[in-house]
Order: sequence, then C-alpha cells, then structure tokens
Amino acid sequence: MITYRVGEPEDAEAVAALYAAAPLRRPIHDRARLKAMIAGANVFASARDGERLVGFLRGFTDGVYDGFICDLAVHRDYHKHGIGKELMRLVIEPTPEVQWVLLASPLAKDYYGHVGWTHSPSCWIRARGGWTPGSYEEFEKEHEELRKKA
Ligand SMILES: CC(C)(COP(=O)(O)OP(=O)(O)OC[C@H]1O[C@@H](n2cnc3c(N)ncnc32)[C@H](O)[C@@H]1OP(=O)(O)O)[C@@H](O)C(=O)NCCC(=O)NCCS
Repeated sequence: MITYRVGEPEDAEAVAALYAAAPLRRPIHDRARLKAMIAGANVFASARDGERLVGFLRGFTDGVYDGFICDLAVHRDYHKHGIGKELMRLVIEPTPEVQWVLLASPLAKDYYGHVGWTHSPSCWIRARGGWTPGSYEEFEKEHEELRKKA
C-alpha cells in the first residue's frame, strides 16, 4: 500500500536516488546543492511503499496567491499508478486561492495537460547558472549505481 506524507522534507540521499530512478534531471551529483534545494523549499509531498520513497514533490507557495512546483518525481517502477496525480492533489487542494505554475520536463510534456493543467504561452525564464541538464542517456549513465538504491 502506498502511504503519503505532506509538508515534510525528505533526506537528500533518498531524494537523489529517487530522482536517479524516476528519472528527474536535477543536480543530484552535488549533494550540497540538492540539500539546499530541499531546505529552501516550503512545499513537500512524499509517497512511500513501506519504507521506500517512491514519489516526491518539492515546491514553494505563499499559501494564498502563488505557488510553484519545482520537482515531481515518481520511481519508474511505480509510474502510472496515480502517485504523481495524488502528490499534486495533496498540495493543490488545500490551497484553492493559489495559482500553481511549473515547467514540464520533456518526459512529462503531455502529462500535465492530461491531469488538468492549462498550458501557458506567457511563461518566461531567466536561466540559472552552475549546472545544465544533459541528455537523459548521460544522466542515466552517470547515476546507474545510485538508481539501484531507490
Ligand atoms: C511524470 C510523472 C511524475 C507522472 O507520475 P505518475 O505517477 O506515473 O502519473 P499518474 O499515475 O499520476 O498518471 C495520471 C494520468 O496521467 C497519465 N500519464 C502518466 N505519465 C504520463 C506522461 N508522461 N505523459 C502523458 N500522460 C501520462 C497516466 O496514464 C494517467 O492517465 P489516466 O488518469 O487517464 O489513467 C512520472 O512519470 C515521473 O516521475 N517521470 C519522470 C520525472 C519527470 O519527468 N517528472 C516531471 C517533472 S516536470
């Protein structure tokens, strides 16, 4: 049975392994940065199968107007069991005044439309520095061992 937890951060090691296994391209090789990404966020939802972390959502909100989902990852062994949808429901439903925004990964480009999000042509980005995701092949290869720990 999958159990859910809302509002609590997760350990960076478990999150790194989950992102390797989803896969979600984030700078998981840089644990200090990943820890800071988790510590600096204020929206969390997790899914577990027993002790195993199989889904995680990380984001920000002021609780009354704006919200941003930064990461949504479900372990590939658990895809299409409704976990991603449930993680989003758990953070979105309690905040009816909030407009939630996210950037879809290439793997999820059709996902959000399917689960009720509206595509916006007015999204603008200021690129970050430090690390840019490479191909999924490179990411998978780099984190082959880590993935097995998820
Ligand atoms: C994208 C992701 C979070 C979806 O999570 P999930 O738990 O597998 O999805 P759900 O089970 O909640 O799917 C809900 C519905 O969307 C559909 N769906 C799932 N993944 C989809 C995809 N990639 N594209 C289109 N539809 C998708 C499901 O079939 C299901 O449809 P239904 O309600 O008609 O049966 C998961 O595939 C994942 O972690 N991918 C890798 C990381 C990633 O790209 N994350 C997104 C970052 S923006």
